[in-house]
Amino acid sequence: MTSIADIVAEHAHREGPLLPILHDVQKAFGYVSEDAMRDIAQALNLTRAEVYGVVSFYHDFRKEAEARPILKLCRAEACKARGVDALVPIAENQSRVKVEAVYCLGMCSVGPAALVGDQVIARLDATRLSSLLEAM
Ligand code: FES
Repeated sequence: MTSIADIVAEHAHREGPLLPILHDVQKAFGYVSEDAMRDIAQALNLTRAEVYGVVSFYHDFRKEAEARPILKLCRAEACKARGVDALVPIAENQSRVKVEAVYCLGMCSVGPAALVGDQVIARLDATRLSSLLEAM
């Protein structure tokens, strides 16, 4: 099992190691805990407030564990133009999957788009979204 110390050691030699460390901590543990922020701050000789500020600034970082799978549904303009607003109620009228808004996944021409883990899903419609939610 990976530890915070392992992740810090992997990136400590880099210039600007904080963001890669936070990304890897979240990937390993699903969120960046208060304890992790404290340990990272200590290891990088930063204040806890500096680490907390970065975690709070970027919406992708979680400060608490989320037990449900997460679907990130693009709500930016191109996906809006391609009909994402009609999909939002389908996504939000269930409780098994946590649905979050994101603003552009770089798949504008094939939206509406969503992200599950590292996988981008394009050309969503009501049927595909329902199937996706059931499969998660
Ligand atoms: S606007 Fe949705 S992927 Fe770009």
